[in-house]
Amino acid sequence: MIAAQPHSSSTPRVAAFDRWIRTRFVDLNTQLEDLYATRENRSQVDGVGDDLKATLHDEGRDLIIPLIEEGNTDEGFDRAFELLGNVGYYMAACRRHEITEPSRERTSPLVEASTLALHLGASLGTAPRFVTSHMETYNRAVNGVYRTFTHAPAEKLFLDHNTRGAFAYMRAADALGRIHPMGVSHPATLDLLVNARDALRDAYEMNVVLEQTLDVDDFFFRVRPYYKPYRVGSQEYRGANAGDFAAFNQIDMLLGLCSATDPSYSQVVVEKFPYLTPDEQRRLHESFRHPNVLDALLAQSDHADENWFRTHATAFLEVCDAHGRAAEHHHERLVVGFIQRPAGKIPAEHLDGLTASGPPLDVLLRALRGLVDRRLARARDDIPTRHDDIATLRGLIS
Ligand code: HEM
Repeated sequence: MIAAQPHSSSTPRVAAFDRWIRTRFVDLNTQLEDLYATRENRSQVDGVGDDLKATLHDEGRDLIIPLIEEGNTDEGFDRAFELLGNVGYYMAACRRHEITEPSRERTSPLVEASTLALHLGASLGTAPRFVTSHMETYNRAVNGVYRTFTHAPAEKLFLDHNTRGAFAYMRAADALGRIHPMGVSHPATLDLLVNARDALRDAYEMNVVLEQTLDVDDFFFRVRPYYKPYRVGSQEYRGANAGDFAAFNQIDMLLGLCSATDPSYSQVVVEKFPYLTPDEQRRLHESFRHPNVLDALLAQSDHADENWFRTHATAFLEVCDAHGRAAEHHHERLVVGFIQRPAGKIPAEHLDGLTASGPPLDVLLRALRGLVDRRLARARDDIPTRHDDIATLRGLIS
């Protein structure tokens, strides 16, 4: 049992809702999951556990109504963002249990929750739904326990590794973002490249452990359904995905493996902005302006015989290899192993909302493969990759 403590700047009403989200809400979701797990078709949740669903819906609504009157009283970003996360958890759980279903409705039946979420999202500058940061880097632990939807060990395992992986990517992005003011030949640039390489290797290791320890069915049936798209008011907002932080794209662009002038790439990035905290949004905006390391090294090819060029280019290529390897693993082992393969085993009518962004799985997989190939600098004739430039750089130092 969690002895939930309110956020330091919390009001009693906010604290009461937070306490419910961290205790009773988790119990109710877990009881519903246990019921679904006994069904022959685990994706069929309609009509199962209706009394529990009604309790979840009503108890949450009763706690949300007084919060609308209270409004966002400007007690700081963290408090308001946490409250948006709590409302979002409630709305996402209602979606998961099909208390709401966006294709069935034109506007969310969760009127009070939508009202509060829209108010908070507008005042914070984010989408009015729960986003990945609510589960990861802004998920405040109380007595060692952070907010989850259920008591499922798979959910905690997934979030523990995602959060640590996100921080590893942030370390790499931070190091790479410090290079351009000093230039690629600065002696400290080598340290930054080594820091980025090591951080990306950490991210890879984290994903390998996740792949080896996460139960495929538990993840697919008990965890992933909470991350589906749902409506807030009349608009449907795409689901949460573990990649909703700036660092991944900062790394892509700072290395020079992906380009802001490649429209199919920048579209992926631009779509992400509303799902990031304002702080992360700012970082991502900056990475559209910064020059990249690959171009900077190639521009200095006259110095290819210098010691600095050889060591820095070698380290740079190691960073690219580490980034590409982690991206390939994410695709081949995590996306294929934990989404594509299990999706092949359930009836087609239950595939709706399977992906966070909404397109059919085969379309999404093709787009994700394109991202991986850019990160690996593979030769492709249909999308721009840096294959030839990376080969030139390798040639200069071989
Ligand atoms: C079981 C674990 C995971 C699975 C099944 C998974 C699956 C997926 C899927 C299906 C997408 C596409 C989202 C959509 O548009 O619907 C995606 C995107 C993404 N995921 Fe994961 N993911 C997992 C873990 C992680 C982790 C640990 C990270 C990094 C820390 C990560 C980083 C990303 C990124 C950056 C994207 C955006 C697309 C891109 O830039 O490549 N994922 N993931």
